[in-house]
Amino acid sequence: MKIQLSALLVLLLSFTLGVSVASAQPSAAPHLEKRGAATQLIVDGQPFLMLSGELHNSSSSSLEYMKPIWPQLKAMGLNSVVTPLSWELIEPEEGKYDFALVDGLLAQARENQQRVVFLWLASWKNGMSSYAPVWVKRDTHRFPRVVEHGSEVEILTPMASATRDADARAFAALMRHIKEVDGEVDSHDHTVVMMQIENEVGVLGDTRDHSDAANKAFASAVPAELTSYLQSHRNALYPDLHALWERNGAKTTGTWVEVFGDTPRADEIFMAWNYARFIQPVTAAGKAAYDIPMYVNTWLADSDDNTPGSYPSGCPEPWVVDIWRAAGSSIDIYAPDLYDARFALWAKRYHRNGNPLYMPEAQGGAVGAANVFYALAEESGLGFSPFGIDAEVDSKGPLADSYRLLGTLTPLILAHQQAGDIHGFVVDKDHPSTDFNVNGYTLHVTVDQIFGHAAESGFGLIVPIGPDEFLGAGKGFRVAITARTGQRAGIASVDEGTFQDGKWIPGRRLNGDENDQGQGWRFSSRQLSIEKLKLYRVE
Ligand code: DGJ
Repeated sequence: MKIQLSALLVLLLSFTLGVSVASAQPSAAPHLEKRGAATQLIVDGQPFLMLSGELHNSSSSSLEYMKPIWPQLKAMGLNSVVTPLSWELIEPEEGKYDFALVDGLLAQARENQQRVVFLWLASWKNGMSSYAPVWVKRDTHRFPRVVEHGSEVEILTPMASATRDADARAFAALMRHIKEVDGEVDSHDHTVVMMQIENEVGVLGDTRDHSDAANKAFASAVPAELTSYLQSHRNALYPDLHALWERNGAKTTGTWVEVFGDTPRADEIFMAWNYARFIQPVTAAGKAAYDIPMYVNTWLADSDDNTPGSYPSGCPEPWVVDIWRAAGSSIDIYAPDLYDARFALWAKRYHRNGNPLYMPEAQGGAVGAANVFYALAEESGLGFSPFGIDAEVDSKGPLADSYRLLGTLTPLILAHQQAGDIHGFVVDKDHPSTDFNVNGYTLHVTVDQIFGHAAESGFGLIVPIGPDEFLGAGKGFRVAITARTGQRAGIASVDEGTFQDGKWIPGRRLNGDENDQGQGWRFSSRQLSIEKLKLYRVE
């Protein structure tokens, strides 16, 4: 694993010395960069870890409504907010743009030291087309609809180039405006750090679009761009897609049914290709105006056996991300909306093949307060973002506790994401333990228990901070440590503490019950804590 040592050193120095390195870094628009083992979001020259939340769909349509919310989000420890912006409000009449709301939201975000991910609600939102301007909605001839079971529905078809071009024009105008008001080349204070394109696209209610245009394309040959992509990437394809293609003879020519089989999966792949052929150019048009990271999000199928159409058919589910990639390379990230209880499973399905993990939507509350540790540490996530954050403005709640603690650990997390030696976990009755091998030790993490009392669950992160030293943070877990050298490892000391402006402020020396009389590195289930552990080894 190749680590950019200079970047790691700068980050660790800034962390241990508490100095800001912002002014020493070259400035550029926000972008993604591979640094060591991780792909990170770089803002104003430095990696930025998003402690975010997504607003309810309609909140950011009113500056008045939002005014009291920003300070509450800041008090919860957020550093960024996923903020909807809709096509209907930005281009209420064709060709006439109104960016007053954009400017107002940016001003409010800046007043509250928040970065923003804008969410472009345009042709699709949860599969439907409710956010398209009314001049688009009413002109079904120029902007045709998906047909399901013989009837047009309230979903714009992705087969229509007029719709794609109108969406792309509006999006490019928005990005031109954002560049003007937020994209100065030498700015050290970019507010807009990413863009989401559309929201959970795909056909709902049927496996595919049955409009005349869609039927004609479905009966024609699969485009050569797609089959040649499958061929040239065959070793890196998502396993289910690879298996499906192989099962049908790994054909390089033929209709959709011939190449992908006569099942709803062929319909889903066809829709994925057509949504991607629409959204990749929309994204490209925006990037031509202002090039910052752009992603699409996914309504996850609850089960792999669900029929497409019960979830949006064509949405970038893990098994069709390759189809989206075959259609273009403008989209930087394929993102899950990760509400599912199988958090780690879905996180791994998206954190693969060069795709960094980012989820614009997730569960908040106590569940989110735990999962954020897993996402940022174990999967080197770019950030975390529970949905409906404006309904969870509880600065004393569990999410706020996690965010405030993670805020103090951010430089350490970013540095160890780059080094590739950070681990995160959630342990509970379904996943009672997990093991990590780090620096010659095996760390066996379990739910905390002492004197017959067990915590219900635990979560946290661990990083090595010296040859025989570790830092951990979280609650409700304990760690048993063995040396992989065959020596016996024992606890030399455990100190709790906090980081203030990057400086370690030691608290209590933990011994006795607090480390089970030296038998385990414990994190109480009562509150979050940060602890440093020193080990000794004997033959
Ligand atoms: C997922 C969507 O992307 C959001 O806009 C919102 O509708 C939530 N579902 C509601 O839970």
